[in-house]
Amino acid sequence: MDERLAGRVAVVTGGGKGIGVHYVQGLARAGARVAAADIDGAAAEGVAARLRAEGADALGLTVDVSDAQSVDRMVRQVVERFGRLDVLVNNAALFTALFPQRPFYELDPAAWDRALAVNVKGLFLCARAAYPHLRASGHGRIINITSDTVFSGMPNFLHYVTTKGAVIAFTRALAREVGQDGITVNALAPGLTASDSAASVYPAELFETRAQNRAIKRVEVPEDLVGTIVFLASDEAAFITGQTLVVNGGYTMH
Ligand SMILES: NC(=O)c1ccc[n+]([C@@H]2O[C@H](COP(=O)([O-])OP(=O)(O)OC[C@H]3O[C@@H](n4cnc5c(N)ncnc54)[C@H](O)[C@@H]3O)[C@@H](O)[C@H]2O)c1
Repeated sequence: MDERLAGRVAVVTGGGKGIGVHYVQGLARAGARVAAADIDGAAAEGVAARLRAEGADALGLTVDVSDAQSVDRMVRQVVERFGRLDVLVNNAALFTALFPQRPFYELDPAAWDRALAVNVKGLFLCARAAYPHLRASGHGRIINITSDTVFSGMPNFLHYVTTKGAVIAFTRALAREVGQDGITVNALAPGLTASDSAASVYPAELFETRAQNRAIKRVEVPEDLVGTIVFLASDEAAFITGQTLVVNGGYTMH
C-alpha cells in the first residue's frame, strides 16, 4: 500500500468533477486525508462519500474559488475537520464552461473577466487562505494546474490560454516568496485530456489527431496525471519548486 502521503491533508479545488476527482482519489490512495471542494458541492460530497466507503478519510465541500469569503470558509472547514493542511491543489477552472471557442475579437469582455476571476484570482485566494497552515505543516505543497495550450499557443481561446499562462508566472513568483517557509509551488500542464467535460465539447477526431501528434500515440486520460500530482505532493519532490511539469505524451517538448 502507498503510504507516501500518510499523515498529510490535501484539498483539491474542482475536486467534484472531471480530472479533479482523479486527483482526490490518487492523493487518498497515497494515504492522505482529502477534501474535495467544488462549486458543485453535491458532486464534491459524492466524491468524498465514495472514498469514505473505501475506508479513506474524506470531506466534500462547496466553494467558489473566485470569492474570498467562500475560500476562507473552505480552508477553515478543512482545518477544523483534519487539524492541518499540507497540500493545496489549485485545479478548479473555467475551461469547457468558456465554450464555444471563437476568435479573440468576438470574446465577451465579461467572459474574459470571469475567466480571470476563477482561473487566476482563485489561485491567489486559495494560496492566501492556505498559507498559514502550509507554513505550519513544514512540508507545504501548492500544485497549480495550467495547460499545454500555453506552449502550443492554441488559437480561438485567448482568455483561457492567457489565464493558464498566468498560472505559470504565479507559480514561479510565489515559489520565490514561500521557499523559506518550506513550501514548494509547482505547476502541472496537462495536454488535451479526455475528461468528461472535454469529451463532451471536442469531437472524437480531435483526440485521435492529437494522439497521432504525440511521441506516445494515444489519447491522454485523467489517470495519466495522477502520478505527477502525488509525486509533487510527496517528500520525494521536496527540492523541486517553481517548475512546470508538462504531462502530454510529448505533444510539446521543453
Ligand atoms: N481536460 C483537458 O483537456 C485539460 C487540459 C489542460 C488543462 N486542464 C485543466 O485541468 C483542470 C480540470 O479540467 P477538467 O477537464 O476536469 O474540467 P472540468 O470543467 O470538468 O472541471 C473543472 C472543475 O472546476 C469546478 N469549478 C468551476 N468553477 C469553479 C469555481 N468558481 N469554484 C470552484 N470550483 C469550480 C467545476 O465545477 C469542475 O468540477 C482545469 O484547470 C483545466 O483548465 C484540462
